[in-house]
Amino acid sequence: MLLQDHVALVTGSGRGIGRAIAQLFAQEGAAVMLTARSESELRSATDELTRAGHRAACAVADLSQEAECRKIAAAARAQFGKITILVNNAGHYGPISPIEEYPLAEFDAVLNIHLRASFLLTQLVLPEMYARNSGVILNISSLSAKSAFPWGCAYAAAKAGLLGLTRTTAAESARKGVRANALCPGPVTETRMSQELGATLAKRMGVSEEEQLKGFLNSLLQGRAQTTAEIARAALFLCSDQSSAITGQSINIDGGAAFF
Ligand SMILES: NC(=O)c1ccc[n+]([C@@H]2O[C@H](COP(=O)([O-])OP(=O)(O)OC[C@H]3O[C@@H](n4cnc5c(N)ncnc54)[C@H](OP(=O)(O)O)[C@@H]3O)[C@@H](O)[C@H]2O)c1
Repeated sequence: MLLQDHVALVTGSGRGIGRAIAQLFAQEGAAVMLTARSESELRSATDELTRAGHRAACAVADLSQEAECRKIAAAARAQFGKITILVNNAGHYGPISPIEEYPLAEFDAVLNIHLRASFLLTQLVLPEMYARNSGVILNISSLSAKSAFPWGCAYAAAKAGLLGLTRTTAAESARKGVRANALCPGPVTETRMSQELGATLAKRMGVSEEEQLKGFLNSLLQGRAQTTAEIARAALFLCSDQSSAITGQSINIDGGAAFF
């Protein structure tokens, strides 16, 4: 098992990519702290893990609030004694809107969850990682950080900002035993965020959801969507010793779309 003796705090783990990461990390021996706002999803994801004999616990938190970030880090330590892996995954896409119409409050909300919460949680876990001279931080960014799509300025800015945060974290922490990396998934069409985005984009473009999806997937070399399991496997690689010399990087899992 690749994550024996680790404690992973995985944000946004009630469903989608975060849930798949929590599941794989638990299967690989980590104790997992799950968190999101929806209690029923969180409870179901956590129960699934504990029923299978894994170590898992959950706490409801809205990570766009500073106090809730502190609460979840404290809850993970209270439950499992330490945090050795942080996965910043929680977030939503925000409005599908041109910049000139994009509501400021929504812009702030998107930045708050993707970028500010990741910064806050990183700030909260680094001291204990430095004290142990080991730890891993993984930020879930996006193809949107590296490509050019219309109507999602806050999301793209937040995800690009996350790559900057990743590199700065890596630069500060590399000689203190900590690694920080990012994943840039392309369309993971099985998740709620992706499905809601597809539906809204199709409406805006005046095409069917099938046409919108087909057109987008056609722009990827592999011509297909990525799966939550594929993202989780890359997350496992970056959070385990298998990637012990990799830090400050962003890895694209997009079926061939971005090439830097
Ligand atoms: N799906 C894709 O195509 C794709 C591609 C590239 C990157 N990503 C990134 O992957 C990550 C996961 O997305 P997903 O596709 O798995 O979406 P999802 O199924 O909608 O999951 C998002 C998770 O984040 C949680 N969350 C959202 N806002 C939160 C908040 N304020 N506080 C705490 N938790 C919050 C959600 O739970 P609650 O709503 O219950 O809080 C949920 O558990 C996101 O960062 C997304 O940007 C996704």
